[in-house]
Amino acid sequence: MKNLIITLVLCFTAAQAWAEEATLEHIKVDTDLPAIARGVDDLMGNCHSCHNLKYVTYLDLEKLGIDRQKIDGWRGDQPINSPLTSLMSDEAAMQSFNLVPPDLSLMTKAREGGADYVYSYLLGYYSTPDGVVKNHIFPGTKMPDPLGMSTTTDHAQREQIRATAHDIVSFLYWAADPHEQERYRLGYYVIGYLLILTLLLYFVKKQIWSRLK
Ligand code: HEC
Repeated sequence: MKNLIITLVLCFTAAQAWAEEATLEHIKVDTDLPAIARGVDDLMGNCHSCHNLKYVTYLDLEKLGIDRQKIDGWRGDQPINSPLTSLMSDEAAMQSFNLVPPDLSLMTKAREGGADYVYSYLLGYYSTPDGVVKNHIFPGTKMPDPLGMSTTTDHAQREQIRATAHDIVSFLYWAADPHEQERYRLGYYVIGYLLILTLLLYFVKKQIWSRLK
């Protein structure tokens, strides 16, 4: 009987853990420039009014290959190497939300679940029958539904919102680690170099030992 109870409790905890995990939607982030460029566009339009990205500068966006005219439009008269600071002051944020919205530069690394978490959070808004907006992933969040997921049941519109969230999260994924792609490329060079070196050393060794025979 005791064993049965223990087994049941274990099953229940495992099922609960699984259920919690299952609520996060998996996102395969895009690492190509067009998707990231759409993402930064959408982020500047939908998120930047409240959130800072203090580790990303306008210059980083230019180096990435984002259209210079767009960048100039966003930065106004701020220098090109300034970070993406939101237009909302901390005081104004405190008045509206009683907290300052967190910086988004490292968000896909800062939260458990990473990009999946941010994606699911953005898409997790829904409206209760009496019209209260809630979020499945972060119940009680103070962030108002930024992409309008809770406002529509129309399939095409929801798909559009999903695509926008996908691009924004792809951009945030890039922002959290702008050098990832470079590192992969460097990795291939290093492996190629080591292979050639191994071959050369092999022939050198053969030559040296052939003299001893
Ligand atoms: C109207 C202001 C506002 C806008 C616009 C906004 N946010 Fe937020 N955001 C907030 C606030 C406030 C919080 C803090 C929520 C809390 O802790 O309850 C927050 C929190 C977050 C968090 C952290 C959640 C956590 O786990 O702590 C993420 C990620 C986030 N926002 C992403 C975004 C993205 C992406 C966009 C654009 C699509 C966006 N936000 C637009 C106000 C905003």
